[in-house]
Amino acid sequence: MSDELDNKAVEVLKRNERGGYTVPTARLYPYQWNWDSAFIALGYGSIDRARAWAELESLLEGQWDDGMVPSILFRHDDPDYFPGPAIWQTHTMKQPSPRMPTTGISQPPVFASVMHELVESGNSSDLERAERLLAPVLRWHEWFQRDRSMNGVVSTVHPWETGRDNCPDWEIGLDAVEIDDALEPYQRKDTEHADARQRPRKDQYDKFITLVKFAREREWNQRRFTDESPFLMADPGIHFILLRANRDLLRLAVMVGDTAAADRLEELIDLGEKATEHLWNNELHAFTARDMRTGRFSNGISNASFLCFYADAGSEDQRRHTLEHFARIAQLVKSHVPSWDPEADGFDSQRYWCGPVWPQMNYLISRGLCEQGYHNYAQTVRDDLCQLIEQSGFRECFDPLSGNGCLGTDFSWTAAIWLAWASPNKQELAA
Ligand code: DGY
Repeated sequence: MSDELDNKAVEVLKRNERGGYTVPTARLYPYQWNWDSAFIALGYGSIDRARAWAELESLLEGQWDDGMVPSILFRHDDPDYFPGPAIWQTHTMKQPSPRMPTTGISQPPVFASVMHELVESGNSSDLERAERLLAPVLRWHEWFQRDRSMNGVVSTVHPWETGRDNCPDWEIGLDAVEIDDALEPYQRKDTEHADARQRPRKDQYDKFITLVKFAREREWNQRRFTDESPFLMADPGIHFILLRANRDLLRLAVMVGDTAAADRLEELIDLGEKATEHLWNNELHAFTARDMRTGRFSNGISNASFLCFYADAGSEDQRRHTLEHFARIAQLVKSHVPSWDPEADGFDSQRYWCGPVWPQMNYLISRGLCEQGYHNYAQTVRDDLCQLIEQSGFRECFDPLSGNGCLGTDFSWTAAIWLAWASPNKQELAA
């Protein structure tokens, strides 16, 4: 079974290859996505190291002069996707001069941690490839701290930037966004390619597009976007992934003897550690999303709440509470880890980030739990994903109650996570 799935996973990656980069899945997501490419590189790490590095390098071709690495690279115009380059219009702006049409927001920066993983499992040629990418990746991390932070806390201006698009985490932030009256009528494509009941609602899409228009009218000046956006929230996903990525980039900087980069990364880590407290929701006893304008916390626990272990963050007490939630939620689902607490408002087992299990999140959560010594929990998260893929194939995400696959099929990051980690042929948990 697992040998057959290993072969199928390789086929999925190859089928989604588009000449130097890989799409998440045909039709629904026909471009290059940021954190998808990083996970795809991780998957390629098990079968073709050169291809793994090429995937990472290709993503940096879209980096902006200010250091930002965008969420999507529009290398061509595909009428099958909305909103494409004509809506974002970043390449028509004078600043900050992206090299190709892209979105104007970023995505969770797992990139440096994937580089580190490839180096750890590789040889000196992997370290040489990583050394070449160190400076641009550091510029990206600095961009988060410089242009996407409020009072030192890295924040987000758009649910799409978090990668967890319609998670109920964002409802309190979206409440403050008035749908722009002058929004041009538009036609969604996602609901033509996938079950509309599993995708974000229409009112959410109107607000997503309103936020794009808002930034476009500010000529994609990122500091202004952050300062003035009606939506500004801190995201435990971006926060913990960035903190971990800074730690991993520091390890790489030390390996190659780049002391200037190492010093700067120590500063970024220090800022990240200080900001962690801002995300602690004392009512729910968990790290949750928080509105940066009002100070309000979101009303539920998401799978991103469990990334504190991955970031090696939080006090003993905070980790204990988080583990209690982890164990409680495990009793409510067939497959761990749902993207939203089944006991919180807004849970929907099949709707995108309102409930489904996400392969890449299980990987990050399990790694963190394992590293912190919670081996049984880490194993559950891995076994559950393995069973989901065996039951339903390489789907985009999975219903945590039934195990059925949701949304995209032949999905690249699911195949990649299988190859790198979830397949029973990968015996040991990375520690
Ligand atoms: C989509 O199109 O749903 C993407 O998640 C946006 O990045």
